[in-house]
Amino acid sequence: MKIAVKRRYFVAAACAAMAFAAAGGARAQDSVKIGFILPMTGQQQSTGKQIAAAAKLFMAQHGDTVAGKKVELIIKDDGAVPDNTKRIAQDLIVNEKVTFLAGFGVTPAALAVAPLATESKTPEIVTAAGTSIITEKSPYIARTSFTLAQSVVPMADWAAQNGVKKVVSMVSDYGPGIDSENSFKAEFAKQGGQVLDAIRFPLTAPDFAPFLQRAADQKPDAIFVFVPSGQGGVFIKQFVERGLDKAGIKIIGPGDVTDDDLLNGMGDAVLGTITAHIYSADHDSPTNKAFVAAFKKANDGLRPNFMAVSGYDGMHLMYESLQKAGGKTDGDSLIAAAKGMAWESPRGPISIDPDTRDIVQNVYIRKVEKKNGELYNVEFATFPAVKDPIKAAEAK
Ligand code: PHB
Repeated sequence: MKIAVKRRYFVAAACAAMAFAAAGGARAQDSVKIGFILPMTGQQQSTGKQIAAAAKLFMAQHGDTVAGKKVELIIKDDGAVPDNTKRIAQDLIVNEKVTFLAGFGVTPAALAVAPLATESKTPEIVTAAGTSIITEKSPYIARTSFTLAQSVVPMADWAAQNGVKKVVSMVSDYGPGIDSENSFKAEFAKQGGQVLDAIRFPLTAPDFAPFLQRAADQKPDAIFVFVPSGQGGVFIKQFVERGLDKAGIKIIGPGDVTDDDLLNGMGDAVLGTITAHIYSADHDSPTNKAFVAAFKKANDGLRPNFMAVSGYDGMHLMYESLQKAGGKTDGDSLIAAAKGMAWESPRGPISIDPDTRDIVQNVYIRKVEKKNGELYNVEFATFPAVKDPIKAAEAK
């Protein structure tokens, strides 16, 4: 019995390996499939909606033929559940024979696919998740989103230099939240600031109220917060309901909390809030103005957020890698082509670090202001060409 089970396991494993190898071999073809796996439903659905809209816009603007190959976009919903992500990735690799896997609305989804990307030599283009370690999990991963530390370290510097002395940290209890908390604590302490308390709350359906009370009781100058895209509205609502704004407590953090997707619904209580981030829909460049106008036109007036721009740039990276690889569609050629690529994004100048395959980008300090009756994160200072500080520290 035991032997039979074992043998069945080996046969299954061998079949999976053969299917993966065959999938790799079958990719030398005239069409190219890009398989996006995104949370189109559930708590993170705004991320899926923004990235899918941006990917479609990119194709509408740049056509569906690259290096003589017809590009087909496939969008699958994983609901941000990593078991789903993995199952869908397997299907996309083996049955659809995709050239690229892309998307991944949360860190656990990106991590779940890393071993499959390695085994099948399929490039995994991360266009949302932000935990530092992701790109280290497979040589086939490249990222066009961000790392949390990229925004958090400039935020800590700015806060310490602008009169913020005592802070309570509040983060979602998973990869990007923990990176945020650790990076903030280390940099803020280095600059002479004090973190009074570090609070973590659950990622799924959090009730922030009791945690906000605990933070308020310690009378900090500011609360440093990381919540993933989609949760900022509820956080701000509960912050205001408990009167923390009236008590003079500021909110600081990476710009996920004043997400462009939700900002207009937060009300005047967020006016003056200062965050550090990689993108604002208000970014003042011709490239961004054209991007925002086209995105709104194609999506019933929806304002693009930092996830949309990460998805748009993910498409750019895939198109240009195909072009640079001269139509080769094997994972090694495509990842080699992606390394070191640099271009002007709607967020500003960006590049893919050839050593880490992670994005290098400007980080902007922004203040929420009203413009033409709408709330915007208005950029007023720039930290240029920031590399992921966590990986940069490890490399030293
Ligand atoms: C992540 O899960 O890595 C993540 C999701 C949403 C964000 C930032 C990071 O806004």
